[in-house]
Amino acid sequence: MDDVASVQIGLFEATHSARALRRFRPDPVPDELITRVLDTAVRGPSASGGQNWIFVVVKDPAVRARIGEIYRESSRVVQAEYAERAKPAHLGDRQYELMKKSSSYLFEHMADAPVLIVAALKLGAPGSRHSPLSREDEIARFWRTSGASIYPAIQNLILACRALGLGTVLTTIHTYHEGAMKAALGLPADAYTYALMPVGWPLDKFGPIKRRPLGEVAFRDRWGNSWAG
Ligand SMILES: Cc1cc2nc3c(=O)[nH]c(=O)nc-3n(C[C@H](O)[C@H](O)[C@H](O)COP(=O)(O)O)c2cc1C
Repeated sequence: MDDVASVQIGLFEATHSARALRRFRPDPVPDELITRVLDTAVRGPSASGGQNWIFVVVKDPAVRARIGEIYRESSRVVQAEYAERAKPAHLGDRQYELMKKSSSYLFEHMADAPVLIVAALKLGAPGSRHSPLSREDEIARFWRTSGASIYPAIQNLILACRALGLGTVLTTIHTYHEGAMKAALGLPADAYTYALMPVGWPLDKFGPIKRRPLGEVAFRDRWGNSWAG
């Protein structure tokens, strides 16, 4: 498969430049590249090695259009939140406005991406009967940790896209209409969707990615004792 990527980039270059990209050229993406992306995704870890993931690659224009409708409908929630919510303190005005503009573009244009990948997980009955937690806390624990068996694979997918020059972004708002999404894709009842990712040749440039300083978010031994490096 080495012939599919002509330019190799390093891991750290990939992690520092694989920013959220939401506008794509209409050009098709060859299946062999998508295979490589998926083959990288499934190298990710999952609880007890369960690998109960499902990746649905949607190229069919009619199915993409339906998913686009579901995403647009779901975006009403986020638009209402954007109208109410204050800017996070760590984001500059311009950074926040660009994020909102880019997100809002996708509300109307999800179906324009030549490829949509939906990542789902098949889950058993929620919660362990051996848990020391109350039933309520155990169910909350179960749902809080369930995504840990799919999001590492999704990050691999993001990095594989970056390495191949493809743009993508992790999106989740379609989950406001989970039933419609499952019906559109014919997913089984015990599958839950965790991400909808448009994939294509990006119109915008990769990175650099800006983040809060490590000193604010990383600690030595105890919370509050900033990691000084
Ligand atoms: C859990 C999660 C949910 C997200 N949901 C959406 C979404 O529904 N729509 C969207 O456009 N971006 C979504 N994003 C992308 C974020 O907006 C993006 O990762 C963030 O703004 C950082 O962008 P950057 O990596 O380009 O700096 C989501 C990201 C995460 C981690």
